Amino acid sequence: MHAETLRSVVVLGSTGSIGTQAIDVVTANPGRFRVAGLAAGGGRVDLLARQAAELGAEVVAVADAARVPELKEALAALGAAPVVLGGPEGVAEAAGWRCDIVLNGITGALGLTSTLVALEAGRTLALANKESLIVGGPLVKRLAKPGQIVPVDSEHSAVQQCLWAAGPHGHDPDAVRKLVITASGGPFRGRTRAEMADVTPEMALAHPTWSMGPMITVNSATLVNKGLEVIEAHLLFDLGFDRIDVVVHPQSIIHSMVEYVDGSTIAQASPPDMRLPIALALGHPGRLAGAASPVDWTKAHTWTFEPLDDEAFPSVALARHVGEAGGTAPAVYNAANEACLEAFLGGRLPFLGIVDTVARVVEEHQVTPAGSVEEVLAADAWARARAAELAAGQSR
Ligand SMILES: NC(=O)c1ccc[n+]([C@@H]2O[C@H](COP(=O)([O-])OP(=O)(O)OC[C@H]3O[C@@H](n4cnc5c(N)ncnc54)[C@H](OP(=O)(O)O)[C@@H]3O)[C@@H](O)[C@H]2O)c1
Repeated sequence: MHAETLRSVVVLGSTGSIGTQAIDVVTANPGRFRVAGLAAGGGRVDLLARQAAELGAEVVAVADAARVPELKEALAALGAAPVVLGGPEGVAEAAGWRCDIVLNGITGALGLTSTLVALEAGRTLALANKESLIVGGPLVKRLAKPGQIVPVDSEHSAVQQCLWAAGPHGHDPDAVRKLVITASGGPFRGRTRAEMADVTPEMALAHPTWSMGPMITVNSATLVNKGLEVIEAHLLFDLGFDRIDVVVHPQSIIHSMVEYVDGSTIAQASPPDMRLPIALALGHPGRLAGAASPVDWTKAHTWTFEPLDDEAFPSVALARHVGEAGGTAPAVYNAANEACLEAFLGGRLPFLGIVDTVARVVEEHQVTPAGSVEEVLAADAWARARAAELAAGQSR
């Protein structure tokens, strides 16, 4: 076995669910990784300062520039003196900081700049922030070299592992019939549309199998997250939407599958724990021993699979529609959804109003090619404003 080189990592969104688990992976493998930089929004400055001091980061960025003095004070109290950057431009500078891997664990479309900066700087991009790929689709694809983006999403990590398992001659694109993306179904699996009319934010924030940040948790309840993942799979693996299926698997043990032309299906199985796909993204293409617990085969298990109820959860079909339209359509789907989430969590929009409003905004949008960042951001801003306007007329 050859000695592995030490990889330097910049963790963006270090105080969040993905970010803290990425730091767990890094600290569990001190001979393999070191943290070069950290960035976060500014909601948890004490934690950010503690992470920077403990990990010896060279640079720390906080998106809310008003929190810079507090961050500097907290760092000084811990005896740490990294470079401190503030504002969205500070986060972008951290994304381009000298390192081997940038892990983008920022939440939402505002992760786009960091994704573009990291790719342009030539870093390997461990991508949890799926929104940036979906929003910036053509722009991100144009910048990314083959293999430069490594998926962190458990489903896409699973697909990649299943593709690696294709056969003794490695990945053969002609041998793949389709990808099967699994979905837990979220907390409202089995309910009809009418039975979701009174869903509150508290109910939507209680995911049955995964513990995640608030935005992705509500997206898992509406299944918008699965819609985003279908577009993500299309962009990462270059397969048409007719070759990407979704199946509901409530136990979240099979993280996705690849069906081959000969009728064989290869699946990746592990208990729900994001440290596994994060470890695979950071250690890519190698595996880090003990990254997560395996399935316990001494116990009895029942794994079930059921078709998606498109009538109760129209968000996945809508995502296919915007994915096929391409250009600015996926950015509009995502931005309208982010605006609706804010309204829902703020008590200003009913649960069913989220996807209904996204569908209306998508329908009104005139799709353009998404040839520049400005064009994408303009479509994003229009969709947010229009969604907020429509949401205002439907308070709960
Ligand atoms: N959580 C999961 O298990 C999971 C699984 C698959 C994919 N993902 C994806 O991973 C991404 C992160 O999700 P999450 O669940 O970890 O979210 P989260 O817990 O809400 O964490 C978001 C992180 O982003 C930071 N942030 C917010 N605004 C920022 C800005 N303008 N610039 C830099 N950082 C900013 C937050 O900082 P503050 O703490 O200062 O607010 C926090 O560190 C999302 O795209 C999600 O879809 C998550």
